[in-house]
Amino acid sequence: MRRRKLVFFDRDKEHIAEAIRILRTNLYFTESKDRKVVLVTSSIPKEGKSTIAANYALSVAISGEKVILVDCDIRRPRVVDSFGIKANYGLEEVLRGKKNLEDVILHNVERNLDLLPATSFGENVTELFLGKKIVEILDGLKEKYNLIVLDTPPLTVATDAALLSTYADGVVYVVGYDMVFKKELLSGKKLLEKAGANIYGVVVNKVSINGYSMGNYGHYSSNYKYYDEYKKR
Ligand SMILES: Nc1ncnc2c1ncn2[C@@H]1O[C@H](COP(=O)(O)OP(=O)(O)O)[C@@H](O)[C@H]1O
Ligand SMILES: [Mg+2]
Repeated sequence: MRRRKLVFFDRDKEHIAEAIRILRTNLYFTESKDRKVVLVTSSIPKEGKSTIAANYALSVAISGEKVILVDCDIRRPRVVDSFGIKANYGLEEVLRGKKNLEDVILHNVERNLDLLPATSFGENVTELFLGKKIVEILDGLKEKYNLIVLDTPPLTVATDAALLSTYADGVVYVVGYDMVFKKELLSGKKLLEKAGANIYGVVVNKVSINGYSMGNYGHYSSNYKYYDEYKKR
């Protein structure tokens, strides 16, 4: 049997499952007719983007809508991991025209939930999100799915998320509790605003029940360091 690592719904983590349901409900009301492409990002690594993206996608799939979760974090792919499955090809190959979309999509990883994984640790991937191909891919997905969730790299590591936000209907900004400086948050927000993104809202993640941070996550002092740390993982 497949082992799911990030998915909280069948675990003893009812408070997290409940928080994700609240997010689903809030987005349901916020998004009106435009709830097609929702991008999830944050300021720095490990704030919980992939966790929130996977669980949000799953919670909407459970409600009966057809959902696809797209791993746009080609530098540090995570989506297949979350569901304990393997993928041979992913988004990068489709963007480079080496594979067809349908050849890489993993169907029904959960009921109503498909995955478009990323597999390679590509360099110079930002340029891939600039071309016509990504628009083509998203247009194709919009025909088939009620919701497309984009899991992206952090804003301080690459411009990918800001770039991709121009194709999204809205952005969920994840903030790891006690993990980021105010100036990092503001600069992330500024990047998104500059791109014209519609920020649906902020999810404060990793808040323990007693209100303290759940983990011991250090701050780094420069973007360069973020990227260094990021690539090591
Ligand atoms: N709400 C949460 N509760 C417990 N663990 C979490 C939570 N959110 C994230 N994590 C854990 O923190 C780590 C980083 O999360 P991840 O979603 O990969 O972050 P990101 O995609 O922002 O880099 C993972 O090990 C994940 O399981
Ligand atoms: Mg991630």
